[in-house]
Order: sequence, then C-alpha cells, then structure tokens
Amino acid sequence: MQVKNKGVGIIGVGSYVPEKTLTNKDLESIVETSDEWIVSRTGIKERHIVAPGVATSDLAAYAAERALLDAGVSADEIDLIIVATATPDMLFPSTACLVQDKIKASKAAAFDLSAGCSGFAYGLVTGSQFIQTGLYNKILVIGAETLSTILDWNDRNTCVLFGDGAGAVVLGEVPAGYGILGIDLGADGSGGEFLKIPAGGSRLPATSESVSQRLHYLQMSGNDVFKFAVKVMGESAVKALDNSGLSSADVDCLIPHQANIRIIQSAAKRLKLPMEKVIVNVDKYGNTSAASIPIALNEALQDNKLKNDDVVVFVGFGAGLTWASCVIKWYKEDKTVV
Ligand code: COA
Repeated sequence: MQVKNKGVGIIGVGSYVPEKTLTNKDLESIVETSDEWIVSRTGIKERHIVAPGVATSDLAAYAAERALLDAGVSADEIDLIIVATATPDMLFPSTACLVQDKIKASKAAAFDLSAGCSGFAYGLVTGSQFIQTGLYNKILVIGAETLSTILDWNDRNTCVLFGDGAGAVVLGEVPAGYGILGIDLGADGSGGEFLKIPAGGSRLPATSESVSQRLHYLQMSGNDVFKFAVKVMGESAVKALDNSGLSSADVDCLIPHQANIRIIQSAAKRLKLPMEKVIVNVDKYGNTSAASIPIALNEALQDNKLKNDDVVVFVGFGAGLTWASCVIKWYKEDKTVV
C-alpha cells in the first residue's frame, strides 16, 4: 500500500559483525565441500562467526549503539525497540528486552518480530506505523542473528550458507515527501516446511531424543527456497514500487536480502537494473538473515552508494515463507561531529 501523511524515514544506521571470520577454505576441513562449489553456487567467500558465549542481543546492542550515535539520538529518547531475529538469546524474555537493558533505553517498549530473513523490512514497516500515527517519535529497528549457533555443522547443504551479524536503524520523522513511500508484505505459510528448526518449540519440546536426532538445527530444502526467492523478490519489489507510484526506472539503489548472488542477480534482471545499482556483500558475510539488509545499507552509505534524494528499495524473503519490500526516498542529515 501507499504510505501517506507525514514522512517517516531512517535517521541513523549502524552495524556490527563479530571479528572471527570463517573462510570457504576453513569449511573444507569441517564438511565435504570446496571453495569452488560455494563461490559458484552462492557467491559466498567468507562469513563472520561469534565466539562461544556471545549471543544475538550482544551483536544487536553494538549495532544499536552505533545507529544511535549516527542519528545523534540518545538511548532514553527511544520509544520502542523492535528486534527482528530467528536466533533469539532464548525463547523468552525477548531479545528486544535484553537490548533495552544493555543500551539503557529505559523508556522504550520492546518486542521481537519473527519473519525470518524478511524480518528487518517487516520491522521497518511495523515501526513506521507508530510514528505515522503520532504515538511514538523515535524507534530502533534491529535485525540481528547468530545463525552459527543453530547450524548443523555436519550438514554441508546449510552450514556453508550463513553468517552472524547485526544491523540497526533509528526511525524518525523526515521532511514530507521523503522516507517510506510504499511497501509490500506477504506470507505463504504453506511453504513453512522448506525452512525450519523442527524442535525446541511447543510442537516438539526438547528431549534427549530430539537432541540426538539433531532436530534443533536449521533444516532447509534449498531448491524449493531458491525457486520461491527468484519468483518473489522481483514481484514484491515491483508491487512496492507500484504502491509508491514509481517504476523500476526510478530506482537508484536496490538493497536485496543477501542470501545468494544468483538470487540477487535474478531480482536485478526482473527489475531491469544494472548490477552497479545493486548492493552486494554476500561474499563477505554469507546470509545473515534479518541482519543482511541493514548491514548492506550501512556499507552502501559508507561507500557513498546512497545519497539524499535517491530512491532505494529494500527487498527480502525468508522463512515462513515470507517476503517484504520497502521503497524509501532517502533523506538523512549528517550528524557526524567534526
Ligand atoms: N559443497 C559441495 N556440494 C554440495 C554442498 C556443498 N556445500 N551442498 C550441497 N552440495 C551438493 C548436493 O548434495 C548435490 O549433490 P547431489 O547432486 O550429488 O545430490 C549438489 O551439490 C547440487 O545440489 P543443488 O541443490 O542442485 O545445488 P544448487 O545449485 O541448487 O545450490 C543452494 C544449492 C542451497 C546454494 C541453492 O539451492 C540456494 O541458494 N537455495 C536458497 C537458499 C537460501 O537462500 N536460503 C535462505 C533463505 S532466507
């Protein structure tokens, strides 16, 4: 749908990835795979992995602090924290509550949002509603994941694909005509089987049997997810552009979910966008799920690939199955202190 009334946009951006990297070469000593296979099928060369004991809220809090600094906003000005994640620290309390405590955002309400790799864009749309209605002024939307902790390191079909990291944005009011112009959110629950962690919830609570059957690890039907992603990425971005009264010819920058270079290329082709307008960093981080779009956004800004007045499109897909797109006319004041 088209977004009307006041301008709601991103006024600060930050990201954080753990220091340790795991290269494709490193993976060759863990599972039967090769750098050549991983690069040619996915475009991934390395990914960042948390040290033992580091959890999603730790990465989320680092990214959030950087986004607050970038926005020139203090933690106690934040009204709401939304953390999009598929890898919460624990089932409850929510990771958003843990972040609220870590960054001392004592006035903020907090909740987690579960939409797989589409979670960040879902969170952006959700958060923006509170500002649009005038209920809240400043909202932190964070995508944060420690996927390395839920991967089956014996399963070469999945363990080579993912990485850890976090990205955060501060949402606030921007001049009218800027910010979020149009969105598209969707879900197809019939595809839930294609990407899941079977045990650890109410359907299959943890037992010694569920652990020995490795049911607490991520399971994926790669081909089914691939087909879904190729179809939905382009379709959803086009719908969000339609809803903004724009077409792909108006797009200056596409920031797609970073899962696989072949999926990204097919989305760019569907939108008739040259790859120069597409932000790609899957080679360095792998698929960081809900964190991938805000991490890529932060890099795009640092590399001067996104500037005020540009039209940027975020598009994601993921477990659920879900998809989400958001069209933004970019406007961000430079709050850097010199
Ligand atoms: N190293 C070497 N071989 C591997 C491998 C690995 N890491 N992983 C799988 N293979 C093997 C398979 O076992 C299969 O072997 P077989 O033919 O002997 O059975 C072969 O490679 C080909 O597998 P296939 O599934 O056809 O490869 P593909 O070209 O479809 O690529 C994915 C596989 C997973 C990279 C691709 O399907 C994909 O990216 N899917 C989407 C995943 C995704 O984005 N998930 C996150 C959603 S948010």
